[in-house]
Amino acid sequence: MTDIQGKTGRKKILLGITGGVAAYKAAELVRRLGDRGIEVHVVMTEAACGFITPATLQALSGHPVYTDMWDGRIANGMPHIELSRDKDAIVVAPATADFIAKCVHGLADDLLSTLCLARDCPLIVAPAMNRQMWEHPATQRNVAQLRRDGVTVLGPDSGDQACGETGMGRMLEAVELAEAVSAFLEPKILKGRRVLMTAGPTFEPIDAVRGITNRSSGKMGYAIARAAIAAGAEVTLVSGPVSLAAPVGAVVLPVQTANEMFEAVKKHVAKADIFIGVAAVADYRSAAPRRHKIKKTEEEQLRIDLVPNPDILGWVASRPKPPFCVGFAAESRNLDAYADDKRRRKKVKLMIANLAQDAIGADDNEVSLLDDRGTHRLPRAPKDLVAQQIVSHISGLLGRNTRKPG
Ligand code: C5P
Repeated sequence: MTDIQGKTGRKKILLGITGGVAAYKAAELVRRLGDRGIEVHVVMTEAACGFITPATLQALSGHPVYTDMWDGRIANGMPHIELSRDKDAIVVAPATADFIAKCVHGLADDLLSTLCLARDCPLIVAPAMNRQMWEHPATQRNVAQLRRDGVTVLGPDSGDQACGETGMGRMLEAVELAEAVSAFLEPKILKGRRVLMTAGPTFEPIDAVRGITNRSSGKMGYAIARAAIAAGAEVTLVSGPVSLAAPVGAVVLPVQTANEMFEAVKKHVAKADIFIGVAAVADYRSAAPRRHKIKKTEEEQLRIDLVPNPDILGWVASRPKPPFCVGFAAESRNLDAYADDKRRRKKVKLMIANLAQDAIGADDNEVSLLDDRGTHRLPRAPKDLVAQQIVSHISGLLGRNTRKPG
């Protein structure tokens, strides 16, 4: 892959448009990318031309639009290779279920799919499809595989769909996509930094089958891991039980209990420049988990004694030479006040506050960033976008606060 930092001057992307109703948003996307100083060249599939005309995209991008493998306008007659060679990324928006499936299997039966297979730059896709197509196990498998292959997947979002149904599958709005693509093309602001993170819930056994846990999905933590990797960091992710694909490029250490999470953190903390505690760690665990399943008895009450778990973030932040510590405060009320109190008490440089009832399990999030300089609110956005902004904020604070990587 070409290192996008190695290229100089104005960023250039190849925008691939496939055949979905959301193709109309691609026209707006060209404009919004242009607003951010990104040069856009467009390739469309035959089906995309059924939704929006190449003439529109040509006028908006200011460059010829390509649709055909056999286009004679490329001097050496190899548009399937040439068109991506001077680009910083290929962005496919909208990416249909069919196109994603083709990419996963390495099919190359038209100009855009061939360009994706023959590329030497990163690939970003913005899925758009009917909710049932999105939820279909085949699509979910394909998207997970695409991520494993190192492809960046932006969205989809949930909401009203062109088909009249409501659910997951809407393409992100042009402005959100333009922001994400632009962030992706940004300099590698965490290059050389080693990030240790926790994410997901913990599971504290009560007996052989039962336990104490919470509804944390791990999505925010995993999004931050992906954003930190995209920013050039080396990421070690200590993860509670979640059903998410491991972020490509992260070292993932799966754990169940808070104590296991603590042990993994203790083992890796000495090498970390940054520690981000995103996990929803159970505050208490059973004092004496039973080896066998507890049987129902005639007694009215079953008592389980609970003992407190270690405060992992608090422990990391109070080390003699702590890494740059970032915490998350999920509160159900008095958000900023509780979060700031937690920031001071745990002695962390940055506390990220969100409403628990809003954030847990959701695909988007609205957070405030609290540091020594005050409170910075971020608008509600998909967790991947929020994660990029958090990473960028951390990088800004790091410049002022901590040792440089050795
Ligand atoms: O649970 P609490 O609101 O104190 O969590 C705030 C922060 O502390 C979060 O970043 C969480 O990951 C971290 N934490 C921890 N170990 C605990 C409890 C919380 O690392 N036992």
